[in-house]
Amino acid sequence: MFEEAQYFAPVATRDDGTVEVELAASHPGFADPVYRARRNAIAALAVDYVPGTPIPTAEYTLQEHEVWALVSRELATKHRVYATAEYLDAVERLGLPGDRIPQLQEVSELLYPLTGFRYIPAAGLVPLREFYGVLADGFFHSTQYIRHHSTPLYTPEPDVVHEVIGHANSLASDRYARLYRVAGEAARRVESDAALEFVSKVFWFTLEFGVMTDQDELRAYGAGILSSYGEIEEFRGMDIRPLDIARMGTTQYDITKYQDVLFRADSLDHLEDVVGGFWATCDDESIARLVADAR
Ligand SMILES: [Fe+2]
Repeated sequence: MFEEAQYFAPVATRDDGTVEVELAASHPGFADPVYRARRNAIAALAVDYVPGTPIPTAEYTLQEHEVWALVSRELATKHRVYATAEYLDAVERLGLPGDRIPQLQEVSELLYPLTGFRYIPAAGLVPLREFYGVLADGFFHSTQYIRHHSTPLYTPEPDVVHEVIGHANSLASDRYARLYRVAGEAARRVESDAALEFVSKVFWFTLEFGVMTDQDELRAYGAGILSSYGEIEEFRGMDIRPLDIARMGTTQYDITKYQDVLFRADSLDHLEDVVGGFWATCDDESIARLVADAR
Protein backbone atom coordinates (compact mmCIF):
# COMPACT_ATOMS: atom_id res chain seq x y z
CA MET A 1 0.00 0.00 0.00
CA PHE A 2 1.52 3.27 -1.08
CA GLU A 3 0.76 5.85 1.54
CA GLU A 4 2.13 9.07 0.11
CA ALA A 5 -1.39 10.54 -0.05
CA GLN A 6 -1.58 10.86 3.71
CA TYR A 7 1.65 12.82 3.67
CA PHE A 8 0.50 15.73 1.49
CA ALA A 9 -2.20 18.11 2.67
CA PRO A 10 -5.21 17.73 0.33
CA VAL A 11 -5.82 20.62 -2.05
CA ALA A 12 -9.40 21.47 -3.05
CA THR A 13 -10.62 23.82 -5.76
CA ARG A 14 -13.93 25.39 -4.70
CA ASP A 15 -16.87 26.14 -7.00
CA ASP A 16 -15.86 29.80 -7.12
CA GLY A 17 -12.38 28.80 -8.35
CA THR A 18 -10.53 29.48 -5.11
CA VAL A 19 -7.93 26.94 -4.05
CA GLU A 20 -7.77 25.71 -0.48
CA VAL A 21 -5.09 23.63 1.20
CA GLU A 22 -6.67 21.50 3.93
CA LEU A 23 -4.12 21.41 6.73
CA ALA A 24 -4.65 18.87 9.48
CA ALA A 25 -5.36 20.20 12.98
CA SER A 26 -1.94 18.86 14.03
CA HIS A 27 -0.12 20.89 11.35
CA PRO A 28 2.12 23.60 12.89
CA GLY A 29 0.49 26.24 10.66
CA PHE A 30 -3.13 25.15 11.25
CA ALA A 31 -4.06 28.08 13.52
CA ASP A 32 -2.12 30.74 11.56
CA PRO A 33 -4.56 32.39 9.10
CA VAL A 34 -1.81 34.40 7.39
CA TYR A 35 0.23 31.25 6.70
CA ARG A 36 -2.86 29.43 5.47
CA ALA A 37 -3.75 32.25 3.08
CA ARG A 38 -0.20 32.08 1.70
CA ARG A 39 -0.41 28.29 1.34
CA ASN A 40 -3.65 28.71 -0.62
CA ALA A 41 -2.08 31.35 -2.87
CA ILE A 42 1.01 29.19 -3.52
CA ALA A 43 -1.15 26.12 -4.26
CA ALA A 44 -3.19 28.22 -6.72
CA LEU A 45 0.00 29.05 -8.63
CA ALA A 46 0.56 25.33 -9.23
CA VAL A 47 -3.09 24.58 -10.04
CA ASP A 48 -3.09 27.36 -12.65
CA TYR A 49 0.38 26.56 -14.00
CA VAL A 50 0.67 26.11 -17.74
CA PRO A 51 3.53 23.70 -18.66
CA GLY A 52 6.22 25.32 -20.75
CA THR A 53 5.74 28.77 -19.21
CA PRO A 54 8.00 30.25 -16.51
CA ILE A 55 7.11 29.11 -12.99
CA PRO A 56 5.27 31.95 -11.19
CA THR A 57 7.03 33.65 -8.31
CA ALA A 58 5.84 32.58 -4.85
CA GLU A 59 5.62 35.27 -2.19
CA TYR A 60 7.51 34.40 0.97
CA THR A 61 7.81 36.39 4.17
CA LEU A 62 11.08 37.50 5.73
CA GLN A 63 10.49 34.91 8.46
CA GLU A 64 10.23 32.20 5.81
CA HIS A 65 13.47 33.23 4.16
CA GLU A 66 15.02 33.04 7.61
CA VAL A 67 13.70 29.48 7.98
CA TRP A 68 15.44 28.56 4.74
CA ALA A 69 18.69 30.23 5.86
CA LEU A 70 18.64 28.40 9.19
CA VAL A 71 17.80 24.99 7.74
CA SER A 72 20.32 25.39 4.89
CA ARG A 73 23.06 26.23 7.34
CA GLU A 74 22.24 23.39 9.74
CA LEU A 75 21.90 20.82 6.97
CA ALA A 76 25.11 21.92 5.23
CA THR A 77 27.03 21.22 8.44
CA LYS A 78 25.49 17.76 8.69
CA HIS A 79 25.99 17.02 4.99
CA ARG A 80 29.74 17.29 5.42
CA VAL A 81 29.56 14.39 7.86
CA TYR A 82 26.69 12.31 6.49
CA ALA A 83 26.26 12.96 2.73
CA THR A 84 28.02 11.14 -0.10
CA ALA A 85 30.88 12.81 -1.97
CA GLU A 86 28.79 12.75 -5.15
CA TYR A 87 26.03 14.75 -3.41
CA LEU A 88 28.50 17.23 -1.89
CA ASP A 89 30.05 17.83 -5.33
CA ALA A 90 26.57 18.37 -6.77
CA VAL A 91 25.80 20.95 -4.05
CA GLU A 92 28.88 22.90 -5.17
CA ARG A 93 27.87 22.55 -8.81
CA LEU A 94 24.31 23.81 -8.31
CA GLY A 95 25.18 26.73 -6.04
CA LEU A 96 21.80 27.31 -4.40
CA PRO A 97 21.41 30.50 -2.35
CA GLY A 98 21.83 29.94 1.38
CA ASP A 99 20.25 33.14 2.65
CA ARG A 100 16.82 33.06 0.95
CA ILE A 101 14.37 30.59 -0.59
CA PRO A 102 15.14 30.24 -4.28
CA GLN A 103 12.19 30.47 -6.64
CA LEU A 104 11.49 27.20 -8.49
CA GLN A 105 12.09 28.99 -11.80
CA GLU A 106 15.54 29.90 -10.57
CA VAL A 107 16.19 26.29 -9.48
CA SER A 108 15.23 25.13 -12.98
CA GLU A 109 17.56 27.66 -14.57
CA LEU A 110 20.46 26.49 -12.42
CA LEU A 111 19.73 22.80 -13.00
CA TYR A 112 18.88 22.70 -16.69
CA PRO A 113 22.36 23.48 -18.06
CA LEU A 114 23.86 20.85 -15.72
CA THR A 115 21.69 17.78 -16.23
CA GLY A 116 18.71 18.90 -18.31
CA PHE A 117 16.25 18.74 -15.39
CA ARG A 118 13.52 21.34 -14.89
CA TYR A 119 11.00 21.86 -12.11
CA ILE A 120 7.21 21.84 -12.39
CA PRO A 121 5.20 23.36 -9.51
CA ALA A 122 2.89 20.93 -7.70
CA ALA A 123 0.10 21.95 -5.31
CA GLY A 124 0.28 18.67 -3.41
CA LEU A 125 0.20 15.00 -4.28
CA VAL A 126 0.81 14.28 -7.97
CA PRO A 127 -0.54 10.95 -9.31
CA LEU A 128 2.26 8.36 -9.30
CA ARG A 129 2.29 7.70 -13.01
CA GLU A 130 2.55 11.40 -13.76
CA PHE A 131 5.12 12.16 -11.03
CA TYR A 132 7.48 9.34 -12.01
CA GLY A 133 6.73 9.28 -15.73
CA VAL A 134 7.88 12.84 -16.44
CA LEU A 135 11.24 12.14 -14.78
CA ALA A 136 12.04 10.36 -18.05
CA ASP A 137 11.71 13.74 -19.80
CA GLY A 138 13.75 15.60 -17.20
CA PHE A 139 10.85 17.15 -15.27
CA PHE A 140 10.51 17.11 -11.50
CA HIS A 141 7.26 17.97 -9.73
CA SER A 142 7.90 20.11 -6.68
CA THR A 143 5.90 21.77 -3.96
CA GLN A 144 6.68 25.45 -3.51
CA TYR A 145 5.53 26.25 0.04
CA ILE A 146 7.83 26.21 3.04
CA ARG A 147 7.18 24.72 6.49
CA HIS A 148 5.67 26.91 9.23
CA HIS A 149 8.20 29.23 10.83
CA SER A 150 7.30 28.03 14.35
CA THR A 151 8.99 24.67 13.59
CA PRO A 152 11.92 25.45 11.30
CA LEU A 153 13.52 22.02 11.65
CA TYR A 154 10.35 19.97 11.22
CA THR A 155 7.72 19.56 8.53
CA PRO A 156 4.91 17.03 8.28
CA GLU A 157 4.87 17.42 4.48
CA PRO A 158 7.49 17.60 1.73
CA ASP A 159 8.17 21.34 1.39
CA VAL A 160 10.51 23.40 -0.77
CA VAL A 161 13.39 22.56 1.60
CA HIS A 162 12.93 18.86 0.83
CA GLU A 163 12.29 19.36 -2.87
CA VAL A 164 15.23 21.66 -3.46
CA ILE A 165 17.90 20.90 -0.85
CA GLY A 166 17.14 17.19 -1.09
CA HIS A 167 16.20 16.66 -4.73
CA ALA A 168 17.61 19.58 -6.73
CA ASN A 169 21.07 19.11 -5.29
CA SER A 170 20.87 15.39 -6.19
CA LEU A 171 19.57 16.24 -9.66
CA ALA A 172 22.66 18.41 -10.21
CA SER A 173 24.75 15.20 -10.25
CA ASP A 174 24.97 13.60 -13.70
CA ARG A 175 24.98 10.14 -12.15
CA TYR A 176 22.03 10.62 -9.79
CA ALA A 177 20.08 12.50 -12.47
CA ARG A 178 20.55 9.51 -14.77
CA LEU A 179 18.99 7.28 -12.09
CA TYR A 180 15.98 9.61 -11.79
CA ARG A 181 15.53 9.41 -15.56
CA VAL A 182 15.65 5.62 -15.73
CA ALA A 183 13.19 5.45 -12.82
CA GLY A 184 10.90 7.59 -15.00
CA GLU A 185 11.41 5.29 -17.97
CA ALA A 186 10.51 2.31 -15.78
CA ALA A 187 7.32 4.05 -14.58
CA ARG A 188 6.37 4.68 -18.21
CA ARG A 189 7.12 1.10 -19.25
CA VAL A 190 5.17 -0.80 -16.60
CA GLU A 191 1.46 -1.20 -17.13
CA SER A 192 -0.17 -2.48 -13.96
CA ASP A 193 -0.65 -0.35 -10.85
CA ALA A 194 1.08 -3.08 -8.84
CA ALA A 195 4.20 -2.89 -11.00
CA LEU A 196 4.18 0.92 -10.80
CA GLU A 197 3.95 0.71 -7.03
CA PHE A 198 6.93 -1.65 -7.00
CA VAL A 199 8.96 0.80 -9.13
CA SER A 200 7.97 3.67 -6.80
CA LYS A 201 8.97 1.71 -3.71
CA VAL A 202 12.40 1.03 -5.15
CA PHE A 203 12.63 4.79 -5.74
CA TRP A 204 11.53 5.38 -2.14
CA PHE A 205 14.22 3.14 -0.66
CA THR A 206 16.95 4.55 -2.93
CA LEU A 207 16.59 8.10 -4.23
CA GLU A 208 14.44 9.13 -1.23
CA PHE A 209 15.94 7.10 1.62
CA GLY A 210 19.02 5.41 0.23
CA VAL A 211 22.35 5.04 2.01
CA MET A 212 25.66 3.73 0.75
CA THR A 213 29.18 2.96 1.75
CA ASP A 214 31.16 6.04 0.77
CA GLN A 215 34.57 7.10 2.04
CA ASP A 216 34.60 3.89 4.14
CA GLU A 217 31.51 4.81 6.14
CA LEU A 218 27.75 4.81 5.86
CA ARG A 219 26.57 7.96 4.12
CA ALA A 220 23.20 9.07 2.75
CA TYR A 221 22.28 9.97 -0.81
CA GLY A 222 18.46 9.84 -0.44
CA ALA A 223 16.75 13.24 -0.64
CA GLY A 224 14.44 12.41 2.26
CA ILE A 225 17.32 11.83 4.65
CA LEU A 226 19.46 14.68 3.34
CA SER A 227 16.66 17.22 3.81
CA SER A 228 15.60 16.04 7.28
CA TYR A 229 17.37 17.61 10.21
CA GLY A 230 16.24 14.83 12.56
CA GLU A 231 16.57 11.84 10.27
CA ILE A 232 20.09 12.66 9.13
CA GLU A 233 21.34 12.19 12.70
CA GLU A 234 19.56 8.87 13.09
CA PHE A 235 20.03 6.85 9.92
CA ARG A 236 23.27 5.14 10.93
CA GLY A 237 21.42 3.53 13.84
CA MET A 238 18.61 2.11 11.70
CA ASP A 239 18.15 -1.47 10.47
CA ILE A 240 20.55 -1.37 7.51
CA ARG A 241 20.10 -4.11 4.91
CA PRO A 242 21.95 -4.97 1.72
CA LEU A 243 20.59 -3.56 -1.52
CA ASP A 244 17.89 -5.96 -2.71
CA ILE A 245 15.39 -5.02 -5.42
CA ALA A 246 12.76 -7.61 -4.43
CA ARG A 247 12.88 -6.56 -0.78
CA MET A 248 12.77 -2.84 -1.54
CA GLY A 249 9.88 -3.28 -3.93
CA THR A 250 7.80 -5.25 -1.41
CA THR A 251 8.73 -3.73 1.98
CA GLN A 252 5.95 -1.72 3.58
CA TYR A 253 6.87 1.66 4.97
CA ASP A 254 5.22 4.35 7.03
CA ILE A 255 5.86 7.73 5.49
CA THR A 256 4.88 9.58 8.67
CA LYS A 257 7.72 8.13 10.77
CA TYR A 258 11.46 7.89 10.49
CA GLN A 259 12.42 5.10 8.11
CA ASP A 260 13.65 2.27 10.33
CA VAL A 261 14.64 -0.09 7.51
CA LEU A 262 17.19 1.27 5.04
CA PHE A 263 19.02 -0.38 2.16
CA ARG A 264 22.73 0.13 1.66
CA ALA A 265 24.55 0.14 -1.68
CA ASP A 266 28.23 -0.84 -1.59
CA SER A 267 29.08 2.13 -3.83
CA LEU A 268 27.58 4.40 -6.47
CA ASP A 269 28.70 1.91 -9.14
CA HIS A 270 26.81 -0.80 -7.25
CA LEU A 271 23.69 1.38 -7.04
CA GLU A 272 23.84 2.09 -10.76
CA ASP A 273 24.33 -1.58 -11.63
CA VAL A 274 21.60 -2.97 -9.39
CA VAL A 275 18.97 -0.24 -9.24
CA GLY A 276 19.74 1.59 -12.48
CA GLY A 277 19.90 -1.79 -14.22
CA PHE A 278 16.56 -2.82 -12.74
CA TRP A 279 14.78 0.38 -13.82
CA ALA A 280 16.35 0.23 -17.29
CA THR A 281 14.97 -3.22 -18.02
CA CYS A 282 12.03 -4.02 -15.71
CA ASP A 283 8.55 -4.76 -16.96
CA ASP A 284 5.35 -6.17 -15.48
CA GLU A 285 6.53 -9.75 -15.90
CA SER A 286 9.98 -9.34 -14.38
CA ILE A 287 8.43 -7.47 -11.44
CA ALA A 288 5.81 -10.19 -10.92
CA ARG A 289 8.64 -12.75 -10.77
CA LEU A 290 10.50 -10.65 -8.19
CA VAL A 291 7.34 -10.35 -6.07
CA ALA A 292 6.77 -14.13 -6.27
CA ASP A 293 10.40 -14.84 -5.29
CA ALA A 294 10.19 -12.44 -2.35
CA ARG A 295 7.32 -14.38 -0.77
FE1 LIG B 1 10.93 13.53 -2.23
